[in-house]
Amino acid sequence: MSTSPNLPEIKQFLIDLARECGTIIKSKSGKETYSDKLNSVDLVTAIDKAVESLVSKTIKEKYPEYQFIGEETHVPGVTALSDVPTFIVDPIDGTTNFIHNFPYSCISLGFTINKKPTVGVIYNPHLNLMFHAIKGQGAYLNEDKLPSLESRPISLQSSIVALESGSDRSGELFDNKMQTFRNLLSKEKGFIHGFRSFGSAAMNIAHVATGQLDAYWEGGCHSWDVTAGWVILEEVGGVAVCGNPGEDDIGVDNRVFLFVRGGVKEEQKKFIQEFWSNCQGTLKYE
Ligand code: IPD
Ligand code: CA
Ligand code: CA
Ligand code: CA
Repeated sequence: MSTSPNLPEIKQFLIDLARECGTIIKSKSGKETYSDKLNSVDLVTAIDKAVESLVSKTIKEKYPEYQFIGEETHVPGVTALSDVPTFIVDPIDGTTNFIHNFPYSCISLGFTINKKPTVGVIYNPHLNLMFHAIKGQGAYLNEDKLPSLESRPISLQSSIVALESGSDRSGELFDNKMQTFRNLLSKEKGFIHGFRSFGSAAMNIAHVATGQLDAYWEGGCHSWDVTAGWVILEEVGGVAVCGNPGEDDIGVDNRVFLFVRGGVKEEQKKFIQEFWSNCQGTLKYE
């Protein structure tokens, strides 16, 4: 008979694992050669693969009954997300930062049940930032509980938003992304305070959770980029909005996602509507 997952135990296990991997990531940052994946700005190092291999081995030893999805071993359609409890792992999120020794890379460890993000751990070893959460039990940065931001005012016009170019730099998707950036920045349209492009999806979501960023938007994320951050963000009143309405299945690759911090509910809704009205072409939904 299968028992339901022990979530506090799983979270602590992931925190310990994140620290172990963080030591490796920090010690190798800026010291690795790299190779290309899909193109010359989609990069991977031996450490991405070694960390994923360590994580996968450790998880499979401790939790053989659960599934595992990791960026570096993912095979579309084969390692698809199912309802079975699943660990979803990005061994290094922010590989380009890692290669350049810019201290904004992390390990992102998520756990889903019935495809729903349920436990999330994100660790940036350079800055010693350990974000962690269990669905329904609050989110933490290191030892401190993150405050809910549900009563904080929010508006697009006074926002700072993380936007990422991603590694697909050609064709219609790229054009639409760049036009969306323009729309958000332009005086005639979004006119946000500013955008930032830090190069790590998971860290971006974590900083939306703390309220240091108001939102993070990207066309082209995968489950390993977003699962852990999703749990952390929702615990503080933030919302994750998927660009394909009616489909909240995080297992679908290359999704458009908008992550918005906690804020006064009506204002948060207005923020989302205004944000989408600035999105261009196929990145927009009505
Ligand atoms: C990437 C980073 C980047 C984002 C890309 C991701 P990786 O992850 O999070 O900020 O723009 O969409 O793929 O490849 O460094 O794990
Ligand atoms: Ca990658
Ligand atoms: Ca990633
Ligand atoms: Ca990665």
